[in-house]
Amino acid sequence: MTPGQQRNPWPNLAGELLIAPSLLACDVTHITEQIRAALTAGAEVLHVDVMDGKFVPNTAMGPDIVCALREMTTGPLDVHLMVVDPEAQAEQFILAGADSITFHVEATDNPEELIETLRRAGVGVGITLKPGTPVESLDAYLPLVDQVLVMTVEPGRGGQAFMEDMLDRIAKVASKLRNDQVLAVDGGITPETASLAARAGATMFIAGSAVFNDTGDIAGNIAALRSGAQEGRG
Ligand code: DX5
Ligand code: ZN
Repeated sequence: MTPGQQRNPWPNLAGELLIAPSLLACDVTHITEQIRAALTAGAEVLHVDVMDGKFVPNTAMGPDIVCALREMTTGPLDVHLMVVDPEAQAEQFILAGADSITFHVEATDNPEELIETLRRAGVGVGITLKPGTPVESLDAYLPLVDQVLVMTVEPGRGGQAFMEDMLDRIAKVASKLRNDQVLAVDGGITPETASLAARAGATMFIAGSAVFNDTGDIAGNIAALRSGAQEGRG
């Protein structure tokens, strides 16, 4: 990966309450309108889930989607890599226009080297873990990343229920992060669970079903998530 122009979005966003719609839950027949509605409603970040059928059973979203999104917005595109070989996958998403790459600690033998590679490419760096992985496995990397994502469901599909026993690890990670780092949660985020996660210290709320659901009221859904998170923050 050649050194890129610095486009890491997180230094400008840390400390803010961030709503990040997960595009996995979009209706593909209306994806453009839905994304525009989310952006107009003030979603700060777009979350792109990449699945390779190996790290998780499903497959989803390739670099072409990131390319298309890049045409639609200058706002941050955060790519969540649920793949077995993030070293091999990251570059094509960066070239496609991703601003940040979040990878799973379980997916690589050398997280530090990948963090360094992503830094050199000029993108934001996020690290995440599955609910069953000891939270201490992140400790060595916490000072090195811009964003930590605590998965609140088993990665691999949308529409699952928030795992309340993840609240403790959200609080644990929060206590170890600096003010210039973002603490994200992903999976089963609703206005109610956003409130719980915010109380524990989360600052970015990634939500698929709660944004792109049958109500069709994307702006209302984003506003509800935001007020849930605000209430939890106190
Ligand atoms: C799950 C993905 C999530 C997913 C969240 O593996 O990482 O981003 O889209 O979907 P909801 O909000 O429906 O739980
Ligand atoms: Zn995700």
